[in-house]
Amino acid sequence: MADLFKPITETMLMGPGPSCVPAAVYEALARPTIGHLDPRFIALMDEIKALLRGVIGTRNDLTLPISGTGSAGMETCFVNLVEPGDRVLVLVNGVFGTRMADVAGRLRAEVDTLEFEWGTPVRVDAVREKLADGPYAIVAVVHAETSTGVCNPVAEVGQLVAPTGALYLVDTVTSLGGMPVAMDAWSCDALYSGTQKCLSCPPGLAPVSFSPKAVEKLKARGTKVPNWYLDLTLITSYWGGEKRSYHHTAPINMLYGLYAALQCIDREGLESVFRRHREAHEQLVAGLGQLGLEMLVEPAARLPMLNAVCVPDDVDEAAVRKSLLEEHDIEIGAGLGPLAGKIWRIGLMGHTARAENVARLIAAMKSVLG
Ligand SMILES: Cc1ncc(COP(=O)(O)O)c(C=O)c1O
Repeated sequence: MADLFKPITETMLMGPGPSCVPAAVYEALARPTIGHLDPRFIALMDEIKALLRGVIGTRNDLTLPISGTGSAGMETCFVNLVEPGDRVLVLVNGVFGTRMADVAGRLRAEVDTLEFEWGTPVRVDAVREKLADGPYAIVAVVHAETSTGVCNPVAEVGQLVAPTGALYLVDTVTSLGGMPVAMDAWSCDALYSGTQKCLSCPPGLAPVSFSPKAVEKLKARGTKVPNWYLDLTLITSYWGGEKRSYHHTAPINMLYGLYAALQCIDREGLESVFRRHREAHEQLVAGLGQLGLEMLVEPAARLPMLNAVCVPDDVDEAAVRKSLLEEHDIEIGAGLGPLAGKIWRIGLMGHTARAENVARLIAAMKSVLG
């Protein structure tokens, strides 16, 4: 039988996620599996919750990792907070805002979208005007839109949403662990993320946090949460309180990995982690500029961890990605939707965001582009 592991080398992951995984996380993943109700495991769960609160910037009691990828985090927020007929406003400027609107619509919410050109940020004045059409039960936005490399003004939008009484829901799948996320300061009520980007843990878990106001809405529901697996009223009986009871078998080793990943960030310190991302981004933009390549997004709205680079007219974008992967063992991402074929997406997420990695990519790009 062929050994399919044999040809797998350690590719430098510079796409939109997953990112490179540090050795400490791989070691944690390989630790002996123990029972999901073992007191040693419960202690680890509590520590994960505390570390997550630190990176998320919250004091919310209901803060935990959902078993599933970032999309499971998105579903968790909507499925627990939306009741049929609720008016939901989604701010859309890329793939993941579009997905949020789809998820809310499937729950029979009355979904309203406010659209912005892909590659540009959400405009606060337009949100202010739109909120006058309310009241909305939920207003949702993506912090770091991975499909375009745009950072949305989530703090400013939060200030507008808070006085309306709507719950404010923010996607931080790409931003968490790579740039400041301040859930409480943003007046954010529901937030989700994923492990495979700036947290530098393999894909498989989705940190989620609910404010007391979101928990109130969850408790006051007139209908059952329509998804058993993601029902936080049930999951919290395993993740919180004195006596823990079985809901589903937690992915033990993935949680070891997340614990190790959060410890790495804690030891390095958030400020220095953010600085490392910013510096890698600046180095990348300068290096690409020397190769004559331009960025899609205006400087003020650029994300450090997801860089959308315009493909020159005379260059075959897919051929460049193929050569980078096959000849240099470097993965970068393609554009999505209307940006397919027009941009490359270069990720500098978590453990990947290092000067030596950027230098290696620039040298490889130079050789591939001739
Ligand atoms: C901003 C954003 N939201 C949600 C998701 C969905 O996460 P996953 O692919 O882990 O399900 C992604 C994935 O790239 C993302 O970038």
